[in-house]
Amino acid sequence: VITDIHKYTLPERYQEKIEAALKDVGYSLKDPRPIAESVLQLSTHYQTPSSTTPWSSKEFRAAYLAYFFPLNYIRNAKMYGEAINLKFPQNFSHFIDFGCGLGSSLLAAQDMQFLKPEIPIYGIDNFSTPLEVLKSHFLDGMPLRSEIPAKITSSFGVFSYSLNELAKTPSWLFDLEHLLILEPSTSVHARKLMDFRTTLLEKGFHIWAPCTHHEHCPLLQHSKRDWCHDRIHWDQPAWFQEIEKLLPIKNNTLTTSYLLASKTPPPLSAYGRIVGDELPEKGKTRWMFCRGENREFLSWLSRNGEAPSWKRGQLFLEPPVHELKGNELRLTKA
Ligand SMILES: C[S@@+](CC[C@H](N)C(=O)[O-])C[C@H]1O[C@@H](n2cnc3c(N)ncnc32)[C@H](O)[C@@H]1O
Repeated sequence: VITDIHKYTLPERYQEKIEAALKDVGYSLKDPRPIAESVLQLSTHYQTPSSTTPWSSKEFRAAYLAYFFPLNYIRNAKMYGEAINLKFPQNFSHFIDFGCGLGSSLLAAQDMQFLKPEIPIYGIDNFSTPLEVLKSHFLDGMPLRSEIPAKITSSFGVFSYSLNELAKTPSWLFDLEHLLILEPSTSVHARKLMDFRTTLLEKGFHIWAPCTHHEHCPLLQHSKRDWCHDRIHWDQPAWFQEIEKLLPIKNNTLTTSYLLASKTPPPLSAYGRIVGDELPEKGKTRWMFCRGENREFLSWLSRNGEAPSWKRGQLFLEPPVHELKGNELRLTKA
């Protein structure tokens, strides 16, 4: 039994909200060229190590609104979809989005119905500008609290693309009951996150996803560069396509590195997860597969017929019928 791959969408109402917020800084989705130019500049800025989000610049705010906000919204929507599939607890006392920016994560959590309406939301950022934009254009009057709640131990905390901007990991992170971290899918950022997984395990967290086990991370252990990341399938809005046409970067699918963790253990223990894209080779197809500390692959021999259309991120709830050949789980049945 393997789980499905879902396609995510930015709800249509965001187009109007983004357009209104862009107007405040003198941009419009109807004129994508200046937005695309700012996106390129902000992408270059993010490539500098230890860079932070420059909210004071109007150009960069426009780039964030029209480009990075929708991308991070979709990445977060995928994470909350995954959490719901895994039956992740939704009865926490507070929801804390740390380094929330324009609220990509908290909005996705609400829209995916992961976040129940009665749970108080904390959106924390050391810049007031994104919080003001979030309140005036995206929250529809919903209250947002802007300091860390006193009661952390029964809270859900999310760090979406913010942990890497902090000089130091806040110590209260380890007191959270539930935790979601998303980081850029680069070798450096993701390997730091994979390393951080060990600290979380030592502090009493259970990893719910992407890992299906608590053994050493095979990618960290058996490779110097490989990094664990997911690939998210989505429908790009037409206005987003107009911006992307002007860019050398293509986001037909999105990647991200993440950890979903909790002090509560998962109710079901899945068997393993596909952690690599399909690798067509002579005579067979392989997918990197994670089910423990060994770096392994699923493989499908061409002589058995057409290879299954499995995708990175898919979860196997039970072991597939296979024969073990070295580091390959050779499948005989899809
Ligand atoms: C790349 S943005 C991510 C925004 C949002 N979470 C998202 O997924 O789109 C990183 C955010 O972290 C915030 N940030 C950086 N350092 C911070 C700190 N020490 N305390 C609170 N927020 C911080 C930045 O202002 C920025 O809004």
